[in-house]
Amino acid sequence: MSDNRDGFGSKLGAIAAAAGSAIGLGNIYRFPCLAGENGGGAFLLIYVLIVLGLGIPIMMAEFYIGRRGGKNPVGSIKVLSPKTKWNWIGYIGILAAFVVLAFYSTVSGWTLEYIYKAATNFFADKDIATIEQGFVDFNNNPFRPFLWQFIFMGLTAFIIFKGIKEGVEKYTKIMMPALFVILIILCVKSLTLDGAGEGLKFLFKPDFSKVDGNVILAALGQAFFSLSVGMGALITYGSYISKKDNLATTSLSVVAADTFVAILAGIIIFPAAFTFGIQPEAGAGLAFNTLPMIFDKMTGGYFFCIIFFILLAIAALTSTISLLEVVVAFLSEEHGIKRNTAIWIGTLVALFFGVFCTLSLRTDSVFVFGNMTFFDFMDKFSANILLPIGALFIVIFVAWKMGKESFYDEITNQNTLKMSVKKFIFFIIKYVAPIVIVAIFINQIINN
Ligand code: TRP
Repeated sequence: MSDNRDGFGSKLGAIAAAAGSAIGLGNIYRFPCLAGENGGGAFLLIYVLIVLGLGIPIMMAEFYIGRRGGKNPVGSIKVLSPKTKWNWIGYIGILAAFVVLAFYSTVSGWTLEYIYKAATNFFADKDIATIEQGFVDFNNNPFRPFLWQFIFMGLTAFIIFKGIKEGVEKYTKIMMPALFVILIILCVKSLTLDGAGEGLKFLFKPDFSKVDGNVILAALGQAFFSLSVGMGALITYGSYISKKDNLATTSLSVVAADTFVAILAGIIIFPAAFTFGIQPEAGAGLAFNTLPMIFDKMTGGYFFCIIFFILLAIAALTSTISLLEVVVAFLSEEHGIKRNTAIWIGTLVALFFGVFCTLSLRTDSVFVFGNMTFFDFMDKFSANILLPIGALFIVIFVAWKMGKESFYDEITNQNTLKMSVKKFIFFIIKYVAPIVIVAIFINQIINN
């Protein structure tokens, strides 16, 4: 890393930022939503297997590229493999960043609306039907969803504007632990609800009759989405990680924290959903509508609800930061555009597509194709297609193009760290990950 390049100031800062990228709406909104639609327990099991089996090695592969290359995804690959076409992997990542940011900014906007609703006591003593209707009304409002979406992306741009150490690192280090605490409080409350038993059974008891190619692909996509792998966000963050940090333990911590939060979200949401009569298949509103109901039943619920949605907004923010940073690093390093200009360009392009995602959720929207909204399309296109393809090329590049000597050298910090698992990790990167990803794709194509 060159001396004037910004970077993380400490190992904890690097972990917090990467965990901040990983932990977000994917864990608290998207994971329960998919688990609900895909039958619960069996989905969870496949998801966890993929996260634990492939997640850590793929994350290390991304950190390896980023720290060794020292740049954005395109630039890092150019450094590692000059005058080849491999840097196209980086361009897939840039595309994916915009696709994810588009629908993510829509959902991020919801978090701000819900802070507002919580603060103005909208949820007090309301039944679930009224709360669900409130969500529909909000999406149909000609003004508010866009307002929040724009404010949210403005906040994202603002923090990136402050830089890595003073912006990204500083904010995530405080906010992530706070989120953990409030999730645990919620979890305790949810487990005392009447529907707790039924909810836990739904989440943890696998029913394999529900499993088909779609469920497996959804679990794969969600695993990559939740870990922020497959598009170069962690290549970019890898370039800010100190040469002294241990990439293996960093990855392990991030994966563990991310998985823990997703499961916690499930333990919070499903017992509540069964208690208040919300279908697990309820989709987008599942998390957003269920949580206020739990708070309503808690002493001090009014304050907890506000704090919770603030923390959810922050969790989303540390994720959007990591997405926008990919674009900003790319534009500034590869095209010589000033960082501040790059921030503007990235934000506006993301918002352009984001607006269509938001528009597509209106009841009478024209941005719906068949029964798929543009929002759903961007969601599925990124998680189920772009990220797995990105991850596939990343592991192939690392194992088959760069090879093990280079990989071992980087992850052991030039042989100063003893790492007995390195062969095992490389084996997964070289054989297991590509075969599993390709097999899931083929299975999906054949069975559809
Ligand atoms: N992982 C984040 C979440 O779960 C979303 C996210 C941030 C992401 N950066 C990413 C997803 C990069 C894919 C790739 O909310």
